[in-house]
Amino acid sequence: MLSQKTIDIIKSTVPVLEVHGVEITKRFYQMLFSNHPELLNLFNHANQRQGRQQTALANAVYAAAAHIDRLEEILPAVVQIAHKHRSLGIKAEHYPIVGENLLAAIKDVLGDAATDDILQAWAEAYGVIADAFIGVERDMYASAEQAEGGWKGFRPFTVERKTKESETITSFYLVPQDGKAISGFKPGQYVTLKAEIPGEKYTHMRQYSLSDAPGKPYYRISVKREEACEGRPAGIVSAYLHEKVKEGDALLLSAPAGDFTLDMEDTRPVVFISGGVGLTPMIAMLNALAEQQPERQVTFIHQARNGEVHAMREHVAELVRSRPQLSAFYCYSSPTDRDRELGRFDKEGLIDLPWLKSVVPTMDAGFYFCGPVPFMKHINRVLKEAGAAPSDIHYEFFGPKGSLD
Ligand code: HEM
Repeated sequence: MLSQKTIDIIKSTVPVLEVHGVEITKRFYQMLFSNHPELLNLFNHANQRQGRQQTALANAVYAAAAHIDRLEEILPAVVQIAHKHRSLGIKAEHYPIVGENLLAAIKDVLGDAATDDILQAWAEAYGVIADAFIGVERDMYASAEQAEGGWKGFRPFTVERKTKESETITSFYLVPQDGKAISGFKPGQYVTLKAEIPGEKYTHMRQYSLSDAPGKPYYRISVKREEACEGRPAGIVSAYLHEKVKEGDALLLSAPAGDFTLDMEDTRPVVFISGGVGLTPMIAMLNALAEQQPERQVTFIHQARNGEVHAMREHVAELVRSRPQLSAFYCYSSPTDRDRELGRFDKEGLIDLPWLKSVVPTMDAGFYFCGPVPFMKHINRVLKEAGAAPSDIHYEFFGPKGSLD
């Protein structure tokens, strides 16, 4: 139990966090990795470079501080982060290391303003926040291990098949090396892949949405090859998977995780909106619906640059042909002459409000979207303007969760 004095101090430092939050977490990461370089095996270096992880952690700490006397109110955020932590293998013993370096960073950035009282209050509050995470994660570890076909840590899988889905996306069909069952999952969930790349100093962890329905003898992930762009280097793991990993090779996966899942209790129409490789969780949901709720009305909307990079088009077309309840629409931002000749798209440019309203049968539906962050911000705005209820809007960030405002 925190004392009222501690709670008061924490709450009064929230405005300071607002100003220095990202600076503190940046400093925190510098200290953490210099004191514990082994943790570089856990963190995504690309997210660090882009500052996305720092912002996500700063926001989480800020939200926790603001709710320190009623942490239960931010439980959904804790659960979402805990899914990511569990899939990465974050352990209870990591928390004091993070706490120590976080406090050192607060002291470093705030200087004299960080009095002993403030530091003491933060040490106590961090302990309470860490306990909340550790408790939720403990339960998640237990259920991932105890589920039928479940397992602990990282399990070797064999690449049974590699299939090119578009110029940039390739699917990997993965079966467990031990030949035993694999756990079920909810469509929309992801797995963490631990890549041990020859010549790389650290292991690289990446999350990939499962891109087929549950209940198969394999897991499928569909990976976009991330090219170097605007000063950002090419994706190390995606290049490795596309170029080096062959059928028959082994990959390490942790059990499925994630809270972006399709509500299968809901019988109302559902609308999937994806941009680029953001279509992977949508395809898992679409396939699951086709198998388990075939009568449900589904609108599948996909935004791509053009037909060359549009993945799984034929698969969706096949579903549309056999299921009158399903319709699919495509927006291409830069269609090619061939796209025009073949009439491969329904709209040129970005999804906009009038067009969305023209293809969606009703706004009383579940809306699920995923794609690049600017695309997601745009779709969130359009859906709100179109009158979708906030509780009907569901989305997934690839990478650390950010803000859609
Ligand atoms: C991811 C918060 C403790 C390692 C995250 C994210 C948040 C977060 C907000 C981003 C989640 C997302 O993907 O949306 C926190 C908070 C902590 C804490 C508030 C303490 C109370 C830890 C500890 C470790 C850790 C103890 C282990 C050293 C990671 C890693 C990621 C992550 C490796 C994924 C980063 C990436 O791949 O970019 N955490 N975390 N966290 N956290 Fe934590």
